[in-house]
Amino acid sequence: MARIPPEVLKRAKQLRKQIGQANYAYYALDAPQISDAEYDRLFRELQRLESDYPALVTHDSPTQRVGDAPLPGFETVQHVTPMLSLNNAFDEDEIIAFDRRIKGALGESGEIEYAVEPKFDGLAVSLGYQSGALVLGATRGDGYAGEDVTANLRTIRAIPLRLPEGAPKTLEVRGEVLMLRRDFEKLNEEQAARGEKIFANPRNAAAGSLRQLDSRVTATRRLAFFAYGIGSAGGDHVPDNTHSRQLEYLQSMLFPVASQRDVVSGVTGLLGYYQDMGEQRASLPYDIDGVVYKVNSLRAQRDLGFASRAPRFAVAHKFPAQEEITEVLGIDVQVGRTGALTPVARLAPLRVGGVTVNNATLHNEDEVNRKDVRIGDHVIVRRAGDVIPEVVAVVAERRPKKTVKFVMPAKCPICRSAVERLEGEAVARCTAGLYCPAQRKQALWHFASRRAMDIEGLGEKLLDQLVERGLVESAADLYELTAETLAGLARMGEKSAANVVAAIKASKKTSLDRFIYALGIRNVGEQTAKDLATHFGNLEALIQADEGTLQDVSDIGPVVAASVHRFFSEPHNRKVIERLVTNGVHWEKVDKTGARGSVLAGKSFVLTGTLGNMTRDEARQRIESLGGKVSGSISKRTDYLVAGDKPGSKLDKAQQLGVAVLNEPALLELLSQER
Ligand code: IVH
Repeated sequence: MARIPPEVLKRAKQLRKQIGQANYAYYALDAPQISDAEYDRLFRELQRLESDYPALVTHDSPTQRVGDAPLPGFETVQHVTPMLSLNNAFDEDEIIAFDRRIKGALGESGEIEYAVEPKFDGLAVSLGYQSGALVLGATRGDGYAGEDVTANLRTIRAIPLRLPEGAPKTLEVRGEVLMLRRDFEKLNEEQAARGEKIFANPRNAAAGSLRQLDSRVTATRRLAFFAYGIGSAGGDHVPDNTHSRQLEYLQSMLFPVASQRDVVSGVTGLLGYYQDMGEQRASLPYDIDGVVYKVNSLRAQRDLGFASRAPRFAVAHKFPAQEEITEVLGIDVQVGRTGALTPVARLAPLRVGGVTVNNATLHNEDEVNRKDVRIGDHVIVRRAGDVIPEVVAVVAERRPKKTVKFVMPAKCPICRSAVERLEGEAVARCTAGLYCPAQRKQALWHFASRRAMDIEGLGEKLLDQLVERGLVESAADLYELTAETLAGLARMGEKSAANVVAAIKASKKTSLDRFIYALGIRNVGEQTAKDLATHFGNLEALIQADEGTLQDVSDIGPVVAASVHRFFSEPHNRKVIERLVTNGVHWEKVDKTGARGSVLAGKSFVLTGTLGNMTRDEARQRIESLGGKVSGSISKRTDYLVAGDKPGSKLDKAQQLGVAVLNEPALLELLSQER
């Protein structure tokens, strides 16, 4: 055998280490350190060295994660320790009962200590290590026997092929295989480009990728892994006192472990964690469908034992499901305030993400065709966080014989004007502009909305009447309405008419950024409006700006610049603005050095718990309007934690990190000093 030169040996070792670190940063820390291209470069260099010096190749080299020839089928493996399921709980009462049962069974009068962690929405697997080497990987199967998917699991970069020095003789690690959202999006884009199957969600994509007989296919899919427990261990140094210590141990063995895990005390701790994770859910890099509570003491776990197929010492506290299946009753077309025609599925009502949903967006014509959604189909509907519900995919197996395909109408369903779809654009639009009542109604509705001019009481129904009767054509007309005119409308008493007129009057005093946002310029959201207001300082300069000048504003590119310029070039729009100003709309001067010299400027806040005098959204707006920033998670860089009622684990974190904690009166005090 050719002797391996020491510098080659050294380089190979170095490359393996770098590749290992890159994998750990990407999957365990969610903080990618190097680009894909750089990763590939390191990987290819190692491959080259190994092909020049075959004796270099070891079974645990990262190059050995590429997969093997297809199997005829998966072998069955018996689990030494069964892989049980968890009991589910859906509300507070069930959690209170769970805690009470545990206290009773343990004869404990004090608070119970719980290890708490996310409930990953993926597939359970068991990983068997012998003398530090990965030897067996299996799916959960029926809990007693699963499928041998070792070849596939070896391709997952987040799973160590060899454990560091000091690993026990035998170790069985339990955890979840899943796909990070960013990798899922990328995979679906690639699948679409190749004309291949689109996956409905990251869970399905992970399942489809793991249960491949050809592990070379699995190797092309980026799967992640998180460990959540030890099945069994034979050897020294494996902690046997608490679950949280075992997770720390797994982390020291280089397994990814959820960084959001915590140890809390009693029901208050559990519910605080539930609330916290509910808030973080949408911004996590992967899907979770709840949180898991486990009695932390392993001795107490043994004492509590199991009831049929689930442990008594643990429970899954589920979040409202974000996906449900329902029937498409029709596909309507809605006209937005910019004239965009959006196909919307009318659904058999369903509950998803904690609310009742009757409609879900289909985005645009191409999306309808790509997903092949037809009237009569059963579809998966998703509502994540505050995002508009959307149709994710058709349940192909449930397609009835008769379905009706969707066709984009050639005429605007509201004003019958021509519909056009420009070359290279996904969106079809009504060409009538503000003359289309749909655009007028929605433009006015947007103008009056809370984050724009904030005219209370000027709701959709009232605006519909005003537009339909020709009483209001543009926003400027609102300021000429009288209480008598309003009182003559349906469902309008004298008192409410007077209230609306008063609200319209009050809205005259506003800020420049709100005013810009209220105009409803295409591609100009709240943040862009703020950027424009601070950059130009006054409206006249903004109106006069050409596209080049507009692009000088940070974060504004050619598309937004063109929209803004087009809007102000339109004489009709300039006239409306003039009339608004003549009718008394005004704003205070913008201090270009940033939010009015505020001491809140640049300070970062985290909000937790329930506030008594305002919602958290209101608190956020007030902080931001004074130049502060609000973020979802706490770190050393956080300046203030605002803690309301039932603050949960963020308060502990703040105290650990030495972050200043404000209660509600202190926050109000701070905000009022700024006024
Ligand atoms: S512990 C004996 N912890 O949930 C307890 N399971 O319904 C074993 N899961 O099949 C499970 N995240 O796939 C545990 N942090 C977590 C989990 C978790 C997700 C899954 C797991 C299991 C299922 C049970």
